[in-house]
Amino acid sequence: MSDPLHHRTDYTRHVLMEDEAGDDPIALFARWMADAQEAGVPEPHAMTLATAGSLTISCRVVLLRSFDADGFVFYSNYNSRKAMDLERDPRAALNFFWPQLERQVRIEGKAEQVSPEESDRYYATRPVESRIAAWSSDQSRSVEDRAKLEERFERWKGRFADGEVPRPLHWGGYRVRPQRMEFWQGRPSRLHDRIAFEHFADGAWARLRLQP
Ligand SMILES: Cc1cc2nc3c(=O)[nH]c(=O)nc-3n(C[C@H](O)[C@H](O)[C@H](O)COP(=O)(O)O)c2cc1C
Repeated sequence: MSDPLHHRTDYTRHVLMEDEAGDDPIALFARWMADAQEAGVPEPHAMTLATAGSLTISCRVVLLRSFDADGFVFYSNYNSRKAMDLERDPRAALNFFWPQLERQVRIEGKAEQVSPEESDRYYATRPVESRIAAWSSDQSRSVEDRAKLEERFERWKGRFADGEVPRPLHWGGYRVRPQRMEFWQGRPSRLHDRIAFEHFADGAWARLRLQP
């Protein structure tokens, strides 16, 4: 078997020229997300979220649930490690890697909680077991063992046995408002295409090409 750490891919599938990139990175992101879905990327909406703690930087995968010109929305626990980080320092970075398309998207900006109404609307679309899990898990805290975790879940399930499962106040969305977005398209000979957009205060975007 070949050594995966020394595997080399020559990227040949697509190109990213300025005319395709256009002037609106959100529109370009929408086209690339549609391409990823069409190409059969498993969980194309899975993205790595990086946050800064007081001493450490950490990252983890979360799922993108909506996006538009205002930003990129994911849902989580407001007491989790990422939430603590964002409360101290709202700067966040997102990363998508879609290997089937040889593409990467990087997004940098500030995260803020979405409105309670927006979180309610999304929460209501979740399967009931996921809604109960939002109550039963103190995300990022330690637990004695797996059995304790399951016991907690069953206890909450019992509490909501015959009624609605309301959204817990410690669970909701974050919107990352992009200040910078970068689209990377793999090309042969490591001469990749990198098109970045930087957001000005007046809402306009500046586009630039970066060296690979
Ligand atoms: C494919 C995938 C999707 C995930 N989606 C989410 C999500 O949407 N929200 C979330 O809070 N955690 C999600 N997680 C779990 C996170 O990666 C992480 O374990 C959790 O949020 C706790 O992170 P923290 O301790 O840094 O706050 C997902 C993990 C994977 C692998």
